Amino acid sequence: MTKQLQIGFIGGGNMAQAIIRGLLHSGHNPSHVHIADPSEKQRDCLASINGDLGISANNKDVAAIAQVLVLAVKPQMMTLALEELAADPRPEKQLIVSVAAGITLSSIQSVTGPSAPVIRVMPNHPALVNAGISVLIATDSATEEQKQWAEQITSVIGKSLWIDDETMMDAVTAISGSGPAYFYLLMEIMEECAQQLGLPAELAQALVKQTAFGSGQVATESDGAFSSLRASVTSPGGTTAAATNLLEEEGIRDIFRKALTAARDRSIELGLK
Ligand SMILES: NC(=O)c1ccc[n+]([C@@H]2O[C@H](COP(=O)([O-])OP(=O)(O)OC[C@H]3O[C@@H](n4cnc5c(N)ncnc54)[C@H](OP(=O)(O)O)[C@@H]3O)[C@@H](O)[C@H]2O)c1
Repeated sequence: MTKQLQIGFIGGGNMAQAIIRGLLHSGHNPSHVHIADPSEKQRDCLASINGDLGISANNKDVAAIAQVLVLAVKPQMMTLALEELAADPRPEKQLIVSVAAGITLSSIQSVTGPSAPVIRVMPNHPALVNAGISVLIATDSATEEQKQWAEQITSVIGKSLWIDDETMMDAVTAISGSGPAYFYLLMEIMEECAQQLGLPAELAQALVKQTAFGSGQVATESDGAFSSLRASVTSPGGTTAAATNLLEEEGIRDIFRKALTAARDRSIELGLK
């Protein structure tokens, strides 16, 4: 149903490209996908994805034709992008979809007008391999059809979940938006330690990658609590217990609680700017 929608992107970086690849893979007409990005390098990269994509250096070219306009610039660039948008002619009732961390529905509507339909989405990095999760929230002005469009767009990069309380979005950002980086950091640390423990680099990387992948897969397919999965690989007095007991004693839970709270607070702060 969305295959013929005119979808525009303001900002053609990592997240926009993940969605664009997903859209094309799902059969979306490439000539109905339009992207504006000031960076020539980025525009060349987009053109190499598909020669029929509409690519421009000017946001107004894209804003003028998109039925759905995806704002995919860094949060720090959002004010500028929104100000440009406000000055550009756009189709009436154009759906604005923002994937920017921290940027609230009301801050977008303060520029686009209170009746503009806006959907805020928090996607995450595994979107690159269609294994992401996106959390969505809509203004009352978004129609059911527009909500379906947004869900169909995010479904090309993984799973989609709706919330109806925007204050949750800051915690969502801290958990699933920033979350992949916590897992990558853990993988980085495990890889370093594996080498310090005498394993060759290639073996260290292969072990960490497959352990992360397999554990994620088991957790996804299991109905049990994460603590039961952990218990199932932790014999009393064994090797795993030696490691996890030390992590608990050293305060891993408290460190994570502080780190995730810092991410949540930064999301709130970005929204206040
Ligand atoms: N990447 C993730 O894992 C992830 C996860 C969740 C949410 N997000 C959100 O997705 C958004 C985009 O992130 P990203 O990682 O895709 O960033 P990115 O790779 O830096 O892409 C942003 C692109 O927008 C361009 N740009 C800057 N100002 C612009 C303007 N005024 N008009 C049009 N384009 C402009 C940038 O060009 P220059 O480089 O020349 O400035 C860059 O090519 C962010 O708001 C982020 O919060 C990302």
